[in-house]
Amino acid sequence: MNVVSAKGLAKYYGALCAVGGIDFEISKGECFGFLGPNGAGKTTVMGVIYCFMPPTSGEVKIFGIDVTVDPSGIKSRIGVMPQDDSLDPDLNVLENLIVYARYFDIHKKDSEPTARELLRFVDIEDKVDAPIKDLSGGMKRRLLLARALINTPELLILDEPTVGLDPYSRHSVWEKMEALKSKGATLILTTHYMEEAEKICDRVAIMNAGRIVTIDSPAELMSRYRGSLEDVYLKLTGRPFAA
Ligand SMILES: Nc1ncnc2c1ncn2[C@@H]1O[C@H](COP(=O)(O)OP(=O)(O)OP(=O)(O)O)[C@@H](O)[C@H]1O
Ligand SMILES: [Mg+2]
Repeated sequence: MNVVSAKGLAKYYGALCAVGGIDFEISKGECFGFLGPNGAGKTTVMGVIYCFMPPTSGEVKIFGIDVTVDPSGIKSRIGVMPQDDSLDPDLNVLENLIVYARYFDIHKKDSEPTARELLRFVDIEDKVDAPIKDLSGGMKRRLLLARALINTPELLILDEPTVGLDPYSRHSVWEKMEALKSKGATLILTTHYMEEAEKICDRVAIMNAGRIVTIDSPAELMSRYRGSLEDVYLKLTGRPFAA
């Protein structure tokens, strides 16, 4: 079953074409990565998938439901880890999760035990009462991951989930992602780390200037272009994958 299907997805910001009519399908239980240089349109595609904004044109269905027909119904089944830190600085760690859960009509009685369990899952349970300003950058990314899981989503959207994490923390987040996948969740992520794409993604779409230039498994791409994923990326986008 396709969790996401997009046909001719286009998104304009005024006159600027951020995504120029792309087609892709993502099946249940898959980990699908969007790769591409800054400004390629990755975050924009994600925003359409999690119903933050409608496409300018094209047909996008999530769980078989058109994003323009029932965005609230779709949102309740999705978890989002945004590219930017969007934690509430006036609330502590636990409160950030409990207040966020209210958007999904999950009451404190139910959300608090889940929140505590999720803080254990992302290994920051010792920060439960800490103000947000006392967290390191990596801890904030972990808290954002926990927050994305508060509604037990079927589809998880992770926009650069491990940016700024040290290598140990990055591996630990990869383990969490594998654990979620093994429980049947579908994952969509963007990353600028080649190792992440290669290790975690079943398939990747390489984007450039609002278009998908190729979609395939990392192994298939490396074999077709006879090189590393970095080489494939460079060939298709004209940019080196990583610094
Ligand atoms: N809210 C917005 N208003 C106007 N233009 C926008 C907006 N968001 C993105 N854009 C433009 O749309 C294009 C695609 O941006 P997007 O954020 O989707 O890229 P990205 O692939 O996620 O890049 P990055 O790797 O830097 O995160 C860019 O040209 C960007 O300037
Ligand atoms: Mg982005």
